[in-house]
Amino acid sequence: MTDNPLNFDDLKEALAQYGQQHVLQHWPQLNSEQKSNLTAQLSRVDLAELVSLACGEDEVTDFGALASRASSPPAVRADGSGADWSPTQAQERGEEALRNGEIGAVIVAGGQGTRLGFDQPKGMFPIGPVSGRTLFQFFVDRLLAVNEKYGCRIPLYIMTSDATDQETREYFAANENLGIPIEDLYIFKQGVMPAVDAVTGKLLMQSKSALALSPDGHGGTVSALNRCGCLADAAKRGIQQLAYIQVDNPLAHLCEPELIGHHLMAASEMTTQVVRKRYPMEKVGNVVLVDGQVQIIEYSDLPESAAKAVDEDGSLKLWAGNIAVHLFKLKFLQRVAGEADSLPFHRALKKVPHCDQLGQLVSPTKPNATKFERFIFDLLPIAKNAFVVESYAGEAFAPVKNADGAETDTPNAAKTAIIDLHRHWLEEAGVCVDEGVQVEINPRLALTAGDLREKISANQRIDADRYFDTGLES
Ligand code: UTP
Repeated sequence: MTDNPLNFDDLKEALAQYGQQHVLQHWPQLNSEQKSNLTAQLSRVDLAELVSLACGEDEVTDFGALASRASSPPAVRADGSGADWSPTQAQERGEEALRNGEIGAVIVAGGQGTRLGFDQPKGMFPIGPVSGRTLFQFFVDRLLAVNEKYGCRIPLYIMTSDATDQETREYFAANENLGIPIEDLYIFKQGVMPAVDAVTGKLLMQSKSALALSPDGHGGTVSALNRCGCLADAAKRGIQQLAYIQVDNPLAHLCEPELIGHHLMAASEMTTQVVRKRYPMEKVGNVVLVDGQVQIIEYSDLPESAAKAVDEDGSLKLWAGNIAVHLFKLKFLQRVAGEADSLPFHRALKKVPHCDQLGQLVSPTKPNATKFERFIFDLLPIAKNAFVVESYAGEAFAPVKNADGAETDTPNAAKTAIIDLHRHWLEEAGVCVDEGVQVEINPRLALTAGDLREKISANQRIDADRYFDTGLES
């Protein structure tokens, strides 16, 4: 793609060369502003690449062969085994990095959230089971708590897209940035990729004068961080590692010291947190080691036989499920930023409303379009010493993907997971929580079960729903 719009004649010729001239069919009816917008949009599309992707001419991976060579990745397990250092040493190393101001945070929030069907950016979804706090509030409260605990100022880089940018900015502005100092908050926008008709491979139009564009996937984070100056800003601040989460997992422990410590002790350029798969065909990406490289094989690509293979002790051979919580060495991101455009595109069949040849808007009832997205985890194979850290799902993973009523990954399931975790913390602290009572703890009161034990008096009973805010009097 190029930022310099081509002239119309060149564009027309290029479009015809790739069989995409239909996008100009309403040209005579467009005003000059519409014409220049469409020309600008088109000139940023790499037509050769798009057409080759649409025809499936890019490299096709033989996942059967890949899976047959796959083994368990280098990892520290949830019980602390698997590394030459202890969880306590990792915790201390991570705390030191936080105190030294070496850590920045990235939240990706550019997805369209089509499955959830919420009409605002997903980050604005009220996920707090008792408080009604939004996903954005969850993470900002967590960062403020980490800042307070370790005396640091973690810059927060939030990635948005055309679909979420304006509302996200307005939301933060209207809510005093949720308490994060303005100079520590950066909202930046990811790139776009056109959608094509799933059958014909033709570019879809959103209107007579605009292409149907979608965010380019969370793999677009690296080039967007670079393009928008976030990598340079982080370097200027002395940041050495960036902690990355996706906005739709309220249990994601952004900037958790132990995870940071494992990443540093392993001298890793990219560390990924995983959970042990509960059953072979679970719908999570499989983090594996193939030919010496850590990589992810999507559940949909993993042959059943490989998914079901077990070790001598009967446990799953490919056990590590991706939860999309990563740590990146800043220097690694700086190095690969220029090459990030070489990350492969993945295809997704989706419903994309579009304008037909007569200029009428079509709202498809079935998936009609192919969207192309880059995935952040495709950086794993090119990272030095890529490393994996296992956590317990109940403590770290409650994705909000589908609307309530679906079988899995719903807001209600995530709320239950939050309540269960916080109930457990309270019970560990000696507090009795009545059956069926909903509890929620703000991280600014306690980031961990240990923090809570120090702050709350034991031998009390909670018999009504309760949100433990920043003070215990609430
Ligand atoms: P998903 O791939 O689950 O997509 O994103 P989604 O947009 O949330 O939901 P569907 O598929 O449309 O229902 C996982 C995370 O990656 C972010 C999302 O915001 C979410 O935090 N993401 C995804 C981006 O930031 N940009 C993208 O282009 C895609």
